[in-house]
Amino acid sequence: MLSCSSGRGLLLFAVGALHVGLLFEAVGADSAGPTQEALNSGRPGSDRVNRFPKIGAAIDYNVLEGGQTEVPSVVGDVTSLETVGPRTFRLHCGADVLQLDFYRTDVVRVQMAWAGKFEDPASADLVVGGPTPATLSASVEDKGDYLQFQATTPGGVAIQASKMPLRLSLLWGGNVIWTESQGLARNSTSTFQTLSAGSGKEHFFGGGMQNGRFSHKGPRIRISSDGNWDEGGNPNAVPFYLSTAGYATFRNTWSPGFYDFSSAPLVLGHNESRFDAFYFGAEPRNFGALLEGYTYITGRPFMPPVYGLGLGDSDCYHNDRHGNDTGVAVAVAEKYRQEDMPAAWLLPNDGYGCGFGLGPTSFPKNFTLLDEVVLELGEQGFATGLWSSAGLPDIKRMVQGSGTRIAKTDVGWIGDGYKFAFDAVRMVAQGIENNSDARRFIWTVEGWAGTHRYAVMWTGDNSGSLDYVRWQVPTFIGSSFSGQAHVSGDVDGIFGGSPESFVRDLQFKCLMTVFMTMSGWAANPDKQPWAWGEPYTSIARMYLKLKARLTPYYYTLSRQAYDTGLPPVRAMALEFPLDDRFLEHHVGSAQQFMAGPSILVVPIYQPLSTTALRDEIHLPAGEWVDWWNGSVYEGPAVINGCPAPLERLPMFVRAGAILPMWADTPMPYSAAAQSDPLILDIFPSGESSFSLYEDDGRTRQALEQGAFARTLINCSGPAPRASSGRVAVGISASVGRFEGQLAQRTYLLRVHAPKSPTAVLLRHHESSTAEALPLQGSLSALDFAPSGWFFDAAQLQGVVHIKTPPQASSIAFAVELEVSSERQSSVQIVI
Ligand SMILES: *[C@@H]1O[C@H](CO)[C@@H](O)[C@H](O)[C@H]1NC(C)=O
Ligand SMILES: *[C@@H]1O[C@H](CO)[C@@H](O)[C@H](O)[C@H]1NC(C)=O
Ligand SMILES: *[C@@H]1O[C@H](CO)[C@@H](O)[C@H](O)[C@H]1NC(C)=O
Ligand SMILES: *[C@@H]1O[C@H](CO)[C@@H](O)[C@H](O)[C@H]1NC(C)=O
Ligand SMILES: *[C@@H]1O[C@H](CO)[C@@H](O)[C@H](O)[C@H]1NC(C)=O
Ligand SMILES: *[C@@H]1O[C@H](CO)[C@@H](O)[C@H](O)[C@H]1NC(C)=O
Ligand SMILES: *[C@@H]1O[C@H](CO)[C@@H](O)[C@H](O)[C@H]1NC(C)=O
Repeated sequence: MLSCSSGRGLLLFAVGALHVGLLFEAVGADSAGPTQEALNSGRPGSDRVNRFPKIGAAIDYNVLEGGQTEVPSVVGDVTSLETVGPRTFRLHCGADVLQLDFYRTDVVRVQMAWAGKFEDPASADLVVGGPTPATLSASVEDKGDYLQFQATTPGGVAIQASKMPLRLSLLWGGNVIWTESQGLARNSTSTFQTLSAGSGKEHFFGGGMQNGRFSHKGPRIRISSDGNWDEGGNPNAVPFYLSTAGYATFRNTWSPGFYDFSSAPLVLGHNESRFDAFYFGAEPRNFGALLEGYTYITGRPFMPPVYGLGLGDSDCYHNDRHGNDTGVAVAVAEKYRQEDMPAAWLLPNDGYGCGFGLGPTSFPKNFTLLDEVVLELGEQGFATGLWSSAGLPDIKRMVQGSGTRIAKTDVGWIGDGYKFAFDAVRMVAQGIENNSDARRFIWTVEGWAGTHRYAVMWTGDNSGSLDYVRWQVPTFIGSSFSGQAHVSGDVDGIFGGSPESFVRDLQFKCLMTVFMTMSGWAANPDKQPWAWGEPYTSIARMYLKLKARLTPYYYTLSRQAYDTGLPPVRAMALEFPLDDRFLEHHVGSAQQFMAGPSILVVPIYQPLSTTALRDEIHLPAGEWVDWWNGSVYEGPAVINGCPAPLERLPMFVRAGAILPMWADTPMPYSAAAQSDPLILDIFPSGESSFSLYEDDGRTRQALEQGAFARTLINCSGPAPRASSGRVAVGISASVGRFEGQLAQRTYLLRVHAPKSPTAVLLRHHESSTAEALPLQGSLSALDFAPSGWFFDAAQLQGVVHIKTPPQASSIAFAVELEVSSERQSSVQIVI
């Protein structure tokens, strides 16, 4: 460590020693001479070695030096039962006391106080959900050998506690899910639980961000803050896991731990002399219910502002490379506009050798200049944040005065992780929210349970390569499976990189919620999407535009995560839990994901020099439409040989999908989270619906005052391959209001259908009026016309384009299409 030449490395240790409370008061390491010197060495232009050398793997805290093992002490027989409250019981086992608390019918908390001493160091920060309903009560029944506890409301979880000795079992719907094969135990390195696994078929997920893994029957996973950003590291671990057997466990602790699911019995330990676990029950494989329970207790994932869904660009502008001028950020923003690339926010570096200002001063703090930069970026439609190595002592001035809205709590000031890092992120969230009406938008690393309430968690300082693309995919689907709804990694890493890996990484990140580039530390230092020239620039532009178009889809998914804990980026196993193929780690489960319910994304991580084809794409049951050419596949199936030239990220749309999209605009992220026109890309198949979410895009009114609107869009239609049949699309009146809401807008429907309609009617049920929309001669004629329709047979094997006149958002309306086909049946579209 002492030989480390990195400014960031040194700073980590310097700041780690500070109390986090000082971060906003003291300037921290920024004011400390020697550290500053260290920061100024090894600056941009140098590669990873100089920025932040990889810290070795976490110490194996539960193995004593010399490899000795201890005989654990195990809890003994139940000596008495105490009823503490209407939903709380205590089992005395000699001096040791086990407490059971029901929080909901499906949530029970179990705490062990060795020698009767209860400690609760984590609840104040991690547990935000209280018992509900407030009247919840629980019962205990003496069954002879054992006691049975459960909420008095029927259904839900039950705990059985055998008396001699004390062994717990968890039940759901009367069935035992697990039984302790040994009582709760402790040795000098951990308090651990030993569970008989239900069967060899049980699978485990969760654990937060476990780089390269999402399914955990292999080697045990470390639940710790280990500063290892590479595959095998766990930069945002969470003391939480889910089982296919119908339960999840959250260990309410700040201590590092390990979960060993490799063989029966399971061993789950944390380095502390206490035990505190919340158990969540659900039907087997109902992971959505378990995530809802977990995020009920630990809080819901934060709701990003709309600019959070666009590309962020970060760099150390006040440095030699940029002429020591933070104002360069404005030129970068201009370049995005010139390049016609819809990025959303800039993150000038305020630490790691930089400040904000103009001129050769080290760590300048020129607020006049910052004010100007934020204003000018705002005029170009960008939000601005700051990225600091040592705390944000001036956050009030920055947010209230300059108008910054984003922050990154980088490795330099998250200390050794755990509570320190958690407190840092919480303080920054308050720094943003106490000083403005904005929503928090923060990036961090070394998150823990509950960090999902505050921040995006990212994979740390990575080196860009195709292999990086490969291991990130299971990483992200595993962390979002743990309640971390918004996760990412720097596009093509902060170090390394190549044009090919840049494009491949950007492509799939355009199908996630959040992403950013970080320039300045790679050999080819600029990570902007035009950095590699053609054809890479055009491909990057195409994907950035696709991402911007899909904003209403991802924004709605983000709100769903905020309401229920279900993340936008979903493991195949999370979206299709009953398909056994997705439970274990292999290409078809770990290297593809669902973007919400409707888009299957298949990232490419093999070099084009090896193959331009992608194998082993696993389609779930149902019908899937190839994004690029409209071909329909019947699942379950495995697709091999799917073409994947550089410009093509294989994607498949689930039949029935309704994808709300924005039209292309130069500054899509600068306004409210709504747009006129609204595009609806519709893949009819049976009955389907989408409840579109919209709000002002940036303030907390949506979250605190219910200022948002929902618009139900539904569709019924024939199977995708049917050559004809009735298709109907319904759009209800918007429910809810927010400031700046559009009173009316035009809808552009793109209905995927193989045949041309003969007529299109717009109908309002309330007034019983129907109006025929005019057929236009071409797509461009439709563009210029106030309304109408056009059938493009060449596009994706048939798309009906329909443009409505502006429609009031408060009124439901309808369109009907007559479609002639060989069989003379009709297709009707009701809007
Ligand atoms: C484990 O806990 C012990 C006792 O609290 C502590 O001294 C030790 O530093 C901890 N180890 C780790 C890796 O946290
Ligand atoms: C304590 O018990 C855990 C669980 O069996 C084990 O992994 C760990 O190595 C033990 N520690 C010692 C020092 O024996
Ligand atoms: C930037 O500032 C540093 C001192 O902080 C100085 O050494 C360097 O020459 C300056 N570079 C430019 C281009 O002004
Ligand atoms: C701070 O920036 C402003 C605006 O760019 C400039 O006019 C002023 O001279 C700067 N102050 C210092 C001390 O550099
Ligand atoms: C934000 O406001 C809350 C409530 O007034 C206060 O407790 C907290 O200390 C403030 N935090 C910051 C960083 O301003
Ligand atoms: C569409 O692309 C797929 C590969 O994803 C290919 O198998 C299929 O033949 C293509 N369909 C058409 C009509 O080109
Ligand atoms: C949409 O849902 C409403 C309410 O359930 C229903 O009355 C209507 O028929 C549906 N429309 C379509 C096109 O599925």
